[in-house]
Amino acid sequence: MHKKNPKGKFIVFEGIDGSGISTQTQRLKSLFESKYGIKAVLAKEPSEGPIGTIIRQVLSDRVIGIDDSCLALLFAADRIDHNNNKIKPVLEQGDFVICDRYLWSTYAYQGMHNDYDWIKEINKFAYKPDLTIFIKVQPETSLKRITKSRFKTEKFEKVDVLGQVMVNYIKLIKEWKDLGEQVVEIDGERDPELVEKEIKTVIEHYFLNKNTQLV
Ligand code: TYD
Repeated sequence: MHKKNPKGKFIVFEGIDGSGISTQTQRLKSLFESKYGIKAVLAKEPSEGPIGTIIRQVLSDRVIGIDDSCLALLFAADRIDHNNNKIKPVLEQGDFVICDRYLWSTYAYQGMHNDYDWIKEINKFAYKPDLTIFIKVQPETSLKRITKSRFKTEKFEKVDVLGQVMVNYIKLIKEWKDLGEQVVEIDGERDPELVEKEIKTVIEHYFLNKNTQLV
């Protein structure tokens, strides 16, 4: 059973590498603060905490010899640490957390090489998002963007791997919708400005009344 969230709102962005999540999380934070006067804190997984730091070293091959199940455990441990030390205090204040990747990333990426039920089990105490926004781009688009913006690629940044991750994300959308969870899919192939505009509409629908005040 997932833990019940304290009173703030928890919004998560998901997508394959290069889908533009980081850009959109930052833009949403600005929108919350400038247009609605709502405090929003940005978060990201792997986190900036001690376990997240080890994970980043694994992803960039600076630490080797960590197998797939060990990596899944590291992500789950990082998530609990992140919940306790960053997400929970913000939600308890009644503010918004906007998180760049969360549970679905583990299900979609670590789900490629680990038993799905086991992954769910080791993540069962993590807070559930109030809304998950999936930004959909094709693996080819994603890799084009990644190779344009940096020289070195990381562990999962290959077209066939991202294709498999995408298949897993599509299954998750259906599974969570069937469970009655709040999930929105957005076409990320378009200009960032258009994606941003659609996200604004979604946020107003879920969290604000017609006077753009919190509901
Ligand atoms: P990313 O979020 O793109 O961070 P950066 O922009 O700093 O490179 O990269 C994190 C990688 O970690 C990405 O390939 C997805 C992967 N990941 C998992 O495999 N499982 C997880 O649970 C999370 C949160 C991320």
